Amino acid sequence: MAPREQWASKLGFILAAAGSAIGLGAIWKFPYMAGTNGGSVFVLLFIISTIAIGLPILLAEFIIGRMGQADAVTIFERFGKSKWWKGIAWLGFAFGFIVLSFYSVVGGWILSYLVRAFTGKLAVQDHGELFASITSNPVEVLFAQFVFMFLTVWIVQGGIKGGIERASKWMMPLLFVFFILLAIRSLTLDGAMEGVRFLFVPDWSLLTGSTFLLALGQAFFSLSVGVTAMMTYASYLSKEEKLGQSAISVSILNIVISILAGLVIFPAVFALGGSPAEGPGLIFVILPAIFEQMPFGTFFMVLFFILMLFATLTSAIALLEIVISTGIRTRYDRRRRASWVFGSMIFIIGLPSALSFGILEDFSIFGNSFFDFADIITSRIGMPIGALFISLFAGFILTNAQTSKELAVPKPIHALWKFLVRFLVPIAIVVIFAAWIFESIF
Ligand code: PFF
Repeated sequence: MAPREQWASKLGFILAAAGSAIGLGAIWKFPYMAGTNGGSVFVLLFIISTIAIGLPILLAEFIIGRMGQADAVTIFERFGKSKWWKGIAWLGFAFGFIVLSFYSVVGGWILSYLVRAFTGKLAVQDHGELFASITSNPVEVLFAQFVFMFLTVWIVQGGIKGGIERASKWMMPLLFVFFILLAIRSLTLDGAMEGVRFLFVPDWSLLTGSTFLLALGQAFFSLSVGVTAMMTYASYLSKEEKLGQSAISVSILNIVISILAGLVIFPAVFALGGSPAEGPGLIFVILPAIFEQMPFGTFFMVLFFILMLFATLTSAIALLEIVISTGIRTRYDRRRRASWVFGSMIFIIGLPSALSFGILEDFSIFGNSFFDFADIITSRIGMPIGALFISLFAGFILTNAQTSKELAVPKPIHALWKFLVRFLVPIAIVVIFAAWIFESIF
């Protein structure tokens, strides 16, 4: 039987974990969620949720994964010693499946934009109209989604070191530098300060349970926690590496890239007279307009969409990796075949999401399009529930001896983390969730 793989280096693990976190969540979803939910209050709640709730769970996933050195289902079965916990781990498999089914649709949009940037076809009068025409064209969205899934499967079937680690290593730093450049361009446009105010000066009347849940869901989605993806990545990590540092780096990087994306988008939205509440099309409508105002705009635009594609791919491969690792369990020699089989299934399940902006536009499930429904049941419901169970598992099922050995930090820090995952995190998730349900009903 083929042996279980490991990361080649510590840097490889951090970059892969950061690659899993940083993707559409920070670059596409964060700006449009902040834009439709009033800006600054959402931003603040997102930062609080990331540090106080997301980070302890991320650490919990790292600890559980590295300790278990196996797929999530095997780990929960072994340490949870019950079928019940094993069942909970299967939730990660299911949610990974659903997230990737709509994630790959947006991945496809990026491919469409990349091809148009290459061929100079993004220089149009009305970017909103272009976005609508691309996303409503069934042949184009399906083809683009197919190509995106193909690329994802192709990297994952290549395995941990050769596939995932190699892809993440050079792309993350480049993306970061590029975002700083873009933010500078956006901030120096006339009227940019209005956008900065929108992002940072809070209007407290917008503080509601629903905004909090959206911000919490965004923190989970963009940190990739609650679906066992980070647990799976940590399970390929050797015993020498320090987990605390890695979790803090990933969380901070993720906040920084999200805020940077906000600083790229909102100053330009206000300067160019767009609407912050544009929705999922926000970056696709605003970014090409910013590039038009830059020297060598076309060149930068191509480079940008390539980086964006890589950021999206490194997250998509993490999602597929959950499905593959739990799908094959210890039959490592089945990775290749399983990647193609599950990848094809995810593509098929994603078809209605892909068509949600065109021929299935009027079709709704509980008042939402397929695309929104898949997003809501994962980010707003699935990930908080998954995160809740993971934190209870780390807090109450694993012993102090086990977690402190894995975490390897001074006693008071371990005690603080334990307190967070036992009490603060679960209570916060339940309260925010209950506030949202209460508001939706009354
Ligand atoms: N964190 C990714 C993003 O922000 O784009 C999305 C994601 C990847 C969520 C992997 C969950 C996951 F397991």
